[in-house]
Amino acid sequence: MIDTVVYNEISDTVDFIDQTLLPVEKKIVACRDVERMAVAIRRLEVRGAPAIGVAAAFGVYLGLNGFKGSDEALPKHLKEIVRLLGSTRPTAVNLFWALKRVQDVIEKAIKAAPAGEKWSAARDAALAEALTIREEDIEMCRTIGRCGEPFLKNGDTWLTHCNAGALATAGYGTALGVFRAAKEAGKTFHVYVDETRPLLQGARLTAWELFQESISATLICDNMAASLMARGKINGVVVGADRITAHGFVANKIGTYGVAVLAHYHKIPFYVAAPISTFDLHLEHGDDIEIEERDHREITHVGATRLAPEGVDVFNPAFDVTPPELVKAIFTNHGIIKPPFTKNIAKVLGTTKS
Ligand code: MRU
Repeated sequence: MIDTVVYNEISDTVDFIDQTLLPVEKKIVACRDVERMAVAIRRLEVRGAPAIGVAAAFGVYLGLNGFKGSDEALPKHLKEIVRLLGSTRPTAVNLFWALKRVQDVIEKAIKAAPAGEKWSAARDAALAEALTIREEDIEMCRTIGRCGEPFLKNGDTWLTHCNAGALATAGYGTALGVFRAAKEAGKTFHVYVDETRPLLQGARLTAWELFQESISATLICDNMAASLMARGKINGVVVGADRITAHGFVANKIGTYGVAVLAHYHKIPFYVAAPISTFDLHLEHGDDIEIEERDHREITHVGATRLAPEGVDVFNPAFDVTPPELVKAIFTNHGIIKPPFTKNIAKVLGTTKS
């Protein structure tokens, strides 16, 4: 079991694996304050949509834990904590989903607590909710894995992009959860792993995770997927998601859309694996999703080494959007969602009567 983000009762810290150092070093950071947690999310020390949500929930706890002000100042302080964590990364909706969930519980606890006990009630409520979100996330991933596993046939070779594994969640993973479930079901299969430029989550994290699990895997450069597909080497693709709209537009790591187009051209099923918390029914179209743009250095450098000429113009969006017509099905913790997505997403998420 990979403990991506956990609460450490003894030290009263939130301990996470610094994913920027993997696979060279597995360093656990003991996080004591909300400012450090915000930096961790921004720097991708903790990354992947569900893991960001869990980390942010614990971040609210840390922010309240350090509070020394009055009952009257508490609601404003809570707002500031939520604002800080909410400003870290814009695309993964799980961040905002988790923050709202924790905030709602805390506000209720503050209201219900007598004067003088509001701070401790708020802090305890934040921790309890963050722990619940973490536990639920692991369970949701297992359900997603079981949902997708039947589509992976014995002897298949599948492709995945970026890291939607245990490291991107509280544990087990969404897309990699499908592979873990297939392994648990006794299936033999092989996985091709896109390296996922520019930050190499595929090479550094997915390859590491699959290696740890003894799941048969081969690392490839992103530009090799097309030729593998053309040679009939890929039977299916599964990826995670950072946000899925009401019409089934899927935001995920940059390069996902290209893989989906390739899969469509080669008549290979392209699946998305995501928990219900990744759906954003306030948005309809892909263009409505805010796409994070990151530091140009991620493209111009590898570590301290410059790869591109100084002063070169760079565009570095961290995510792209795959339209619903390229998606064969979405594996969720509420079961499989197939096209037509607008109707079936609403049905599965309970916003229409069946
Ligand atoms: O920038 P990252 O590493 O946070 O991007 C992660 C992804 O795009 C994942 O595929 C997505 O969050 C799904 S994780 C289960």
